[in-house]
Amino acid sequence: MTVDSFLKKAWSESGPKVISGFSRPFYHNLSGLMYGRRYDKKAYGGMIRHTEAGMLTQWASQVPENGVIVEIGCYGGLSTSYLLSGLKKKNGKIYAIDPFNSDLDKQAELTDDCVPLEKKPTKELVASRLENNGFGGMFELIEGYSQEAATAWDPSIKIDFLWIDGNHEQAYQDFKDFEPYLAPGARVAVHDAHPRYGYAAVVEDVKRIFNSRPWTDLEHVKSIISGKLAN
Ligand SMILES: C[S@@+](CC[C@H](N)C(=O)[O-])C[C@H]1O[C@@H](n2cnc3c(N)ncnc32)[C@H](O)[C@@H]1O
Repeated sequence: MTVDSFLKKAWSESGPKVISGFSRPFYHNLSGLMYGRRYDKKAYGGMIRHTEAGMLTQWASQVPENGVIVEIGCYGGLSTSYLLSGLKKKNGKIYAIDPFNSDLDKQAELTDDCVPLEKKPTKELVASRLENNGFGGMFELIEGYSQEAATAWDPSIKIDFLWIDGNHEQAYQDFKDFEPYLAPGARVAVHDAHPRYGYAAVVEDVKRIFNSRPWTDLEHVKSIISGKLAN
């Protein structure tokens, strides 16, 4: 299946439901029930669905031993917690990037208006949530912007899973900025990539990302499009 036909099916009414004779929505729903209800979405101000949370956990648990995840757009730490709960099995580390509640004037200039700035969680609040969830020593919160974090990135740290959920007008740029640091076979997942319940700019960027090079294991889970770099 070509990327274009995969995306077309993902965004159609019927969707790419059966792969190799196996119902993907059933698998996604099961993952959601088993893993995607651990954290209080309302309290965290989270923006992912249970099925998406379940699959983030599953994908995080599939990185290699001591694997590295980069999350762009951490907000209150909901998706971070799901990623960490999968990553725990692999003794891995997550770098979660977000401006949190720093320099709100700058955020007001750069914002895509996706989250209310007056209620932004602090880095300290998110750190204490992650500690309380049992993830001490497994995370580094980077207070700032993905473009700055990419420029300062230590090239010796290879990324096994890149989760893009930051500024919805720069998903392609986020991918390109971190692409040089992706490990062979790394997974990339992009949130809000659906024409009906996502953002038009992300939809366009996802087309560009997944047409820019060969991929395997393409998956569509609600508004997430994900795949692994083909070696
Ligand atoms: C949709 S929220 C993330 C939600 C979170 N992933 C979850 O599901 O719980 C997007 C977050 O990305 C942040 N953001 C915006 N631009 C960013 C950038 N360039 N780098 C990192 N974070 C960014 C926003 O301030 C906001 O906190």
